[in-house]
Amino acid sequence: MERFIFVLGSNWHLSLAELDNVLKYSSFRGKITDYSANIAIVEFEDLHEKKYFVDELIQLQFLLGGTQKICKIFDFINIKTIHDAFPQFIEKFKIVQKSRYKILSILSNIIEHVFKRIKNESLFFAVSIYPNLFDDEYYSNVLIKHFLPFLNKGIMELLKQKGAKKSLYYKYPEKNIKSGNLNPIFPHHLVTYGLFNEDRAEIIFGFTEEGVYIARTYTADDPNFKKQIDEERPYKEFKSSVSPKLSLIMLNFLNLFHNREKKCILDPFVGNGTIPLFALIQDFQVYGSDIDQKKVNNTIRNINWLSEILEEDVPFLLNERFLTVDVKHLSTRFKIEFFDGICSEPSLGPFYTNNPYYTQIQELIDNELESLYDMMFKESYKLLKKRGNRLVLVAPVFSTIDGGDLQINIEKIARKHNFTLIPMIDMDRIINKSNQKLQFQEKHVKALLDAKKGQIVKRKIYVFEKN
Ligand SMILES: C[S@@+](CC[C@H](N)C(=O)[O-])C[C@H]1O[C@@H](n2cnc3c(N)ncnc32)[C@H](O)[C@@H]1O
Repeated sequence: MERFIFVLGSNWHLSLAELDNVLKYSSFRGKITDYSANIAIVEFEDLHEKKYFVDELIQLQFLLGGTQKICKIFDFINIKTIHDAFPQFIEKFKIVQKSRYKILSILSNIIEHVFKRIKNESLFFAVSIYPNLFDDEYYSNVLIKHFLPFLNKGIMELLKQKGAKKSLYYKYPEKNIKSGNLNPIFPHHLVTYGLFNEDRAEIIFGFTEEGVYIARTYTADDPNFKKQIDEERPYKEFKSSVSPKLSLIMLNFLNLFHNREKKCILDPFVGNGTIPLFALIQDFQVYGSDIDQKKVNNTIRNINWLSEILEEDVPFLLNERFLTVDVKHLSTRFKIEFFDGICSEPSLGPFYTNNPYYTQIQELIDNELESLYDMMFKESYKLLKKRGNRLVLVAPVFSTIDGGDLQINIEKIARKHNFTLIPMIDMDRIINKSNQKLQFQEKHVKALLDAKKGQIVKRKIYVFEKN
């Protein structure tokens, strides 16, 4: 059975959750068999047997918001052999030598799969190491300083021994190696360095608690494309917008993977239209509304702009799909039981530059947000087509100055309006890890956070199903 490494985005919990959901419900059926905070190991039910499986991987990469790269695994070395070959402190030199020799013999076999032709070729490779966790001391002290140089020189020599005319490797800045602070090759550099060409490759060494998986990168995310849409659209307001990545992840949790071009989805707090813009790229039929007419016009103009960039027709009757309406009147303006999914980021309250007081947030929740979310659930129930259709939304978590984190009791509101909360990670499908930082707990996977350290208003993502 072929296996693949999926390099996860910076919010690895969310990336892993998205990947598992896609592997469970889309036509890319498969299972995560191992993971760390940086990678997931995936076995597909049948994708690897298809002749053009690389094309399928490219499609899958395009679908996923939280995956940076997809790489085909050629071999695995267990963690004991790695620790014997590269211990924190060298005590038994013979064991080190023997284990390093064993690793080299595995590499000798692998490079014949990585490069189709070696003899008389000029070859170039880049080694990327993904540790279990980036803040592991073993990564900064051993893997960067000793394992990486060993791999670079070892692979270069092996290629020469096998008859390569030239073999060169990518040199990371010396100062990063010395300080033990190194980022693997960024996805957008893979194209820049031609690492998808036959005579060039990125070779991935992906660690989990079990050992290291060795793979070649086949596809990578194109962050510039998403950035272009996000930053160059005529109307934008970053303070209040979801990121492109998060939009894609949320859309995938709608579980609408088949016949997307026929699926109608609604964003009732559309703002400048980030969610419909990325939904359009993913082939959905997009609809939206906002209480603010200016925002609705901005979204319509942004969609016109995107259609031009993509050289595609503007969605049919666009002006009738995006309406100025308060969420509490949604069902008077959109057709009842019309939508296959609702995906939205409702108002998150005011923009705070300093942490607010607990009472201030309590008032905001009681006087404003609770009723807004209540209306949204009430109306969404009427608008969703049938039982099982999903509502995926962001809700704010406020970090207060004097009382910790505070949030709306979304679950209670959802229950009142006949929606069931769907945990974002199916614990039955996830293998447990011994490192606490890598463990998932039932209560933590009900909804997942998307926030940077110290952020005052954090976004929490929830998935609900209509009963
Ligand atoms: C956080 S923003 C959404 C931003 C959007 N995701 C984007 O990418 O631009 C929330 C939006 O909700 C709208 N809004 C606030 N109260 C509303 C209500 N009662 N009904 C409908 N829209 C409302 C605001 O005008 C604002 O555009």
